[in-house]
Formats: sequence, structure tokens, C-alpha cells
Amino acid sequence: MSKRILLIVSGGIAAYKSLELVRLLRREGIAVRAVMTQSAKQFVTPLSLGVLTEDHVYGDMFDLKEEREIGHIELSRQADLIVVAPATANILAKMAAGIADDLASTLLLATDKPVLTVPAMNVRMWHHKATQRNLAQLRADGIHVMEPDEGVMACNEWGRGRLPEPPAIVAEIKALLAVPRGLDPLADQPDFADEERVSRLAGKHVLVTAGPTHEPIDPVRYITNRSSGKQGFAIAAAAARAGARVTMVAGPVGLPTPTGVTRVDVETAREMLSAVETALPADVAIMVAAVADWRSADEAPRKLKKDGAGAPAPLELIENPDILAIIGASPHRPGLLIGFAAETNDVVPHAKAKLAKKGADWIVANDVSGDVMGGTHNAVHLVTAAGVESWSEMPKDAVAARLVEKIADALSE
Ligand code: CTP
Repeated sequence: MSKRILLIVSGGIAAYKSLELVRLLRREGIAVRAVMTQSAKQFVTPLSLGVLTEDHVYGDMFDLKEEREIGHIELSRQADLIVVAPATANILAKMAAGIADDLASTLLLATDKPVLTVPAMNVRMWHHKATQRNLAQLRADGIHVMEPDEGVMACNEWGRGRLPEPPAIVAEIKALLAVPRGLDPLADQPDFADEERVSRLAGKHVLVTAGPTHEPIDPVRYITNRSSGKQGFAIAAAAARAGARVTMVAGPVGLPTPTGVTRVDVETAREMLSAVETALPADVAIMVAAVADWRSADEAPRKLKKDGAGAPAPLELIENPDILAIIGASPHRPGLLIGFAAETNDVVPHAKAKLAKKGADWIVANDVSGDVMGGTHNAVHLVTAAGVESWSEMPKDAVAARLVEKIADALSE
């Protein structure tokens, strides 16, 4: 059956791009029904949008005829995905606060469907602490947020805040539509019909490590890597949504704790190992953290000072404990042990080698030679004893949802 989008157009100068977005979606065979906010109608007319969607364009909450015919709950019920594009700072703020004062915000509050927001606004509005706070809240609530583009804005300023080009939005929408319904990380309040699927990990304890570690050189300096923690946090969130009890041991990252996840914050690899050992037993452990492989052999108790010779003091490194390998060989090894492999070359052969070396059941391998570390998307290969599955590039929370579904399948076998 063809997929259906409910597109909410809010009022910004980029609203005109929603017309092109509808055209491209329809060309992909995706049906679009549109809702416009009052201010969106200042930028594009309901008539243009209606011609392109070949449907009525909804706008007024208090149009009783519309309420009787379809109802604001019914509008989102008929959609596979709700897309807010462009999403103004105003509608994002209303969503984060749960304000429902027009049709668009009311149906966003009333829906149990996945939601993708595509923000577009002036660069200073984008970087404003209030907007960033709202975005963090929305992400923690399981709403997808697409990063705006950088460039010249309609107001002649330069910076981040431009609506991504419609083909990029279509690609994001298609990736999200590919996520199995019921385990979508965004489906925070599942339909009753989905409850059984969503609770597939009920009664299971899932342990996740996430983020980088910091290995101190002296009280002000440390060794680390570019891991953002996004993939690990997304996996913890997806496992919690699937009904598991989730313990997440997180290195130093500022991401909000996903709903329903017990978070243990650590700094170093040694602290991470000890927190992981304390959290066991678990049914499944997913080691997503990018643990620093080495630490300073001799952590200085005071700040190291320049000695005037022009050369830094040599830094002697020693290897950190390999948490995955230690757990893989431990009597408390979880029934399903999953590692990640960050590689810049020969991704699958390296991952196969890690599977054996670390005693893991599965390795999720990714190529980190691009901007995966810190980025929002990931293309991974799932390496198991049964073979290799390569997944096309998708948002990190879609990778998480798919992996959690695989885990649920494996546990139910
Ligand atoms: N890992 C770990 N403890 C370490 C290093 C890695 O638990 N000290 C885990 C990671 O969480 C990941 C897996 O091992 O699940 C692979 O991590 P990766 O950094 O790709 O591999 P390395 O062990 O560092 O191997 P190499 O240096 O050969 O790439």
C-alpha cells in the first residue's frame, strides 16, 4: 500500500519550498495531505498546495465542518509519518511545551505517529538557547529533527538555518518510512494495536555503552575521540521503547537521557568497565561506546607546564582494558553480546576479525572515514556468524530501531 504523509507547513519564508516537496513526494508515489498554519498562508496559498496534493488543505481547528468530516485525530491517524516542513522556531517551541492552540499544534500533540521536523529560520533564532533547548527536548521526546543547511539566508545573513533542499527532505522521509512500524523510535505513545510489538523486550535487561571516554593527561588535558554518543543513545532509547529495562553507561556527552533509561555517567575506560560489571547481569549488552584505546601511563596530578625547551614532554601511553573482550570472556557474559566496529578501511573484514577476537555474537560495523562520528546518519553492516547484512544509510535512530527489532527476533528464537 502506498505511504501517506501528513505535511504541516508553518509560516516561514521557506514555506514556498513545501510546494516542490509535495511534487517530489507525489512523484515517489507518496500521498500527501497538507495542513497549514495561519501564518503559512501569508507565504503560500492553500490553493497552490491543494492543487499539488490533489486534496483539501486543512487549516482551521474551529471549522466545524472539517471537524465533523475528519477530526484532528483522524487526520494524523491516516498518515504513516507527520512531517513539519518548514518548522519555524515558534512551532518547535509549541511542540516542546505541548501547546495546542491551532489545528497544526493540536494534531502534533494528539498524534501517536512518528514525526519529522525540518526546521528553517534565521541563523540567530536557530542558535538561540531557547530554540536549542526546545530541540533537545524534542529529540529526547523521540521527535526527528533534520539539521538545517548552512548558507545565505533570505534576510541576507549567513549561517545555519536554511531549509534543506526538497530532495534531501524526501530522502529523509523515505528512510523513516522504511522503519518498521511499532518499533519506530518515534512512536512514543504506540497504538494499542502496536503494543504487543512494542513490548517485545519486556522483562529483558539491556545494557548499552555510549559515547567516548576521556583519559586524563593532567587535571586540564585529556585524550578522547570524536564520538558524539548519538548512536548509543538512540539504541538505548529504542530498547526502552521496546519495553526493556535499559541501563546505559555513558561517557562524557551532553545528550539528554532518553525516556525510561537508567543512565550511569563515567569518564574513563576503567570507570566504564567497572560500571558495566556492576550493571550485569543483562540479557543483551550492546557496546556502542568509542572507548579510548590508550591512556596516559602517568597521569600528572598537577597541570604540566612548558619547560622552555620548545618541545613537549613525551607522553607515554598504555592500553586501556578492552571492555567488550573482558565481558565476552566473563562468566556473566550476556546471552547476546553485540559490539560496534568503527573502521576507516576494510570495514567488513576488520569487523569479522573483531567478532572472533572479542567473543561477541554480532558486530555492527560502520565506516567512520566520513562524518559518521558526530553526524546524524549511519550506514552499517551487521556481521554475525550467519553472514553479513548491509543496511543502506539511514538516520541513527532508524538504525537503532532496526537493530532492536533484530535483537527482539533473536531473543524470541
Ligand atoms: N571496545 C571496548 N573497550 C575498548 C575498546 C573497544 O569495549 N577498550 C569495544 C567498543 O565499544 C566496540 C568494539 O569494542 O564495541 C570495537 O571498538 P573499536 O574501537 O572499533 O575497536 P578496537 O578494539 O579499538 O580495535 P582496533 O583498534 O583494532 O580498531
